[in-house]
Amino acid sequence: MKESDIILDIIKKRRSIRKFDGAGIPQVAMEQILEAGRWAPSGANAQPWRLIVVTNREKLAAIAECCYYKVFKSRHVGEAGAAVVICADPDAGSQTYVLDAAIAGTNMTLMATSLGIGSCWIGAFEDQNLKAMLHIPERLKIIALIAFGYEVGKASVPPRLPLSGIVHYETYDAVDEPGIITKKKSSGPFSVYGKLLRVLFNKR
Ligand SMILES: Cc1cc2nc3c(=O)[nH]c(=O)nc-3n(C[C@H](O)[C@H](O)[C@H](O)COP(=O)(O)O)c2cc1C
Repeated sequence: MKESDIILDIIKKRRSIRKFDGAGIPQVAMEQILEAGRWAPSGANAQPWRLIVVTNREKLAAIAECCYYKVFKSRHVGEAGAAVVICADPDAGSQTYVLDAAIAGTNMTLMATSLGIGSCWIGAFEDQNLKAMLHIPERLKIIALIAFGYEVGKASVPPRLPLSGIVHYETYDAVDEPGIITKKKSSGPFSVYGKLLRVLFNKR
């Protein structure tokens, strides 16, 4: 397999896993995952990410109580083998510290996928509770958590917008915007009228 095919395969294979078997992640695999994060690019090479690896079962269960998926508590975090809390230091020398931390997280999830380890980003969490629980200094910003573990079952593949709906060449063509993927598409005369209004006012 060509290197480019391998990379695309891993990118496509990564899923958000919300059912883990509770098994721990071998130290050597965890270190590879963290190493992939460490080699992420960052603004001014400031490397503003600070990572907290949690493997203690009680602590994972307590973290799960502070995390949400839609309106529900993220029980799967409690069943994960580990959670990595991605923090960023806004004073580390990069104005793009949020982006930097997100890229480090992406590297980690892709490395995990290549190792047969599932992952799930958690962007909805109780910031202050997590900070208190994990002794995170106030000046750091928690960007996200990533739960890592071994999948139970098989997660379905959420659809992606086609390239034709998201890529614009040379100039931005607002008429072809696909809208929000989860929004139900309406049809009929009102939708045509709505579309016309949106084009006139340059809105989606
Ligand atoms: C920044 C970010 C925050 C997310 N937050 C959550 C979350 O709080 N809980 C959760 O279960 N999934 C979360 N997800 C996972 C998304 O729901 C998921 O990536 C999306 O539905 C596409 O599915 P896929 O990852 O399997 O391709 C998050 C993903 C990203 C990138």
